[in-house]
Amino acid sequence: MHLATNHPGHVKMPTSSHNLRLGLFAAMLLAAVSTARSADSPVALKNVFKDHFQVGTAINRSHATGTGGGRRSQERIEKDIALTKRQFNQITAENDMKWQLIHPREGAEGYDFGPADALVEFGGKNGMYLVGHTLVWHSQTPNWVFAGTIPPPETADAAPGRGGFGRGYTGPRASREELLERMRDHIHTVVGRYKGKVKSWDVVNEALADGGPENVLRNSLWLQIIGPDFIAKAFQYAHEADPDAILRYNDYGLENPVKIQKLVTLIKSLQEQGVPIHAIGTQAHLNVSTAGFEQMDRSLGEVAKLGLPIHVTELDINSAQGGQRGTGADIAANAQATQGGLVSEADRKLADAYAGIFRAFIKHREWVEMVTFWGVNDAVSWRRSGSPLLFDGENQPKPAFDAVIAEAGREAGVK
Ligand code: XIL
Repeated sequence: MHLATNHPGHVKMPTSSHNLRLGLFAAMLLAAVSTARSADSPVALKNVFKDHFQVGTAINRSHATGTGGGRRSQERIEKDIALTKRQFNQITAENDMKWQLIHPREGAEGYDFGPADALVEFGGKNGMYLVGHTLVWHSQTPNWVFAGTIPPPETADAAPGRGGFGRGYTGPRASREELLERMRDHIHTVVGRYKGKVKSWDVVNEALADGGPENVLRNSLWLQIIGPDFIAKAFQYAHEADPDAILRYNDYGLENPVKIQKLVTLIKSLQEQGVPIHAIGTQAHLNVSTAGFEQMDRSLGEVAKLGLPIHVTELDINSAQGGQRGTGADIAANAQATQGGLVSEADRKLADAYAGIFRAFIKHREWVEMVTFWGVNDAVSWRRSGSPLLFDGENQPKPAFDAVIAEAGREAGVK
């Protein structure tokens, strides 16, 4: 057969076999495209964005240990794990390093390291960058942490727990010194255990108040018992425990201009005091009606002024109809947010929203070092009724996945 080549990639063929060849070529192309859309896709977020930022996911103990059961079958868990390994180069513990889970009871015997150890091992084996979440938070913290002998003030009700997690502890309280000592012990023990393995920690989570500009800090038991320096102390203890760890301040709602100003006030004050804080975590629990390039561009632009690396720590975009008002990540509000069902053309809207925010991440790539999705797929997401992630419950990539990949291509000048 005579084949004349004009230039590489352009092959002239005799007409007799031309149609056959074209048919074969089309079939191969189709196969390639459908492979790209399947869970076995060679297209991986971690590869596509390797020159931009790390791309990670939150996982939980069933993924770390490879054991299904309960809501998710063994078979599905194994598929989730396969997808995690293929797509992501960073993992965060969705729950298993929170105080309530890793340190449920008081004292040296009160730690439960099993699930967190499994997670660290899983990440290590798979060469993933490990993030620890979270050391000091008002939520998912057991009552014993705050308990003591000091009668609570009359206004004790003003320190509520987060929606869905009770009103918070209202009994007799620890003193400032007792609580600082518990915090120091907890941080030294947990950070010390994973020193050199967990590379980055959410040291303080969600210390900023919601609402108007009056209050910068959330009226938490940490604030009430210790005072505003609980934040600086937490960073200091974490730095002592692992001087090489990247220490983050993490919060939600940084799409809201009022909240960003509070962040700036807090971080500047910490920086002036010489507190070892190395990165800002913006959770980015977004809603499809507001999420997009403009919102994210504005938010990242403001956060970047602090001069610290930005980690997008808990990304998801709720595409349910209800609960689209706020930018809050409030747990009770999110439970309600799913009652309206999915918006029409939900997939398309979600894809547009994701494309926009990734365009903003790419624009601010000088600062954005990490983008972590808050869950592997819609079925295991905490906002699962809002179908907020790039993969559906069967681990199939959604149109939002393609839209995100396309943004990397656009930036590289491919399109
Ligand atoms: C959520 C988890 O995803 C849920 O499984 C859990 O029931 C509640 O907490 N901000 C945070 C995360 O910092 O730890 C929260 O994670 C979501 C809001």
